[in-house]
Amino acid sequence: MTTSKRIEWSDAMLTGVAEMDSQHHILVDTLNEVSTRMAESSVDPMFDRVTRDLLAYAIYHFDTEELLMQQYGYAEAAPGEAARHLAAHRGFAERVVKLRDDARTGKPGAAVALLRFLESWLVDHIMTIDQLLGEFVCRHNHAAAGIQAPDRNADELR
Ligand SMILES: [Fe+2]
Repeated sequence: MTTSKRIEWSDAMLTGVAEMDSQHHILVDTLNEVSTRMAESSVDPMFDRVTRDLLAYAIYHFDTEELLMQQYGYAEAAPGEAARHLAAHRGFAERVVKLRDDARTGKPGAAVALLRFLESWLVDHIMTIDQLLGEFVCRHNHAAAGIQAPDRNADELR
């Protein structure tokens, strides 16, 4: 089975929030592990357990991010972004439950479809919507510490 596509971790995925970044790294590593296992055997008796653990960790990670949103008043400061972020987390959970059910009933190609969805969703989410939350938290922390955020335009003029 040709499922050994791996997510290459890069600094572009960093949000600047240590807790988010370490959890993202764990998610990427775990997903790569599942990919490797599936490339080795299309009938992996551990598939169910491994994907269940991965999804449980994803939900735990969403809770962490949503707690940060609450702590930093994200919904009040950026209601549109916050609403889109929460909707993305909910949409992910719904889609994954459906794909996982398909995989469990042995629907052809369902396990690969689940894996592909997890890979593309996770990378896209980390690179876009999580970056906005990371920037917001970092800006807030800098302001609270009395540190001025670096001015990109000033840097370019030098
Ligand atoms: Fe998120």
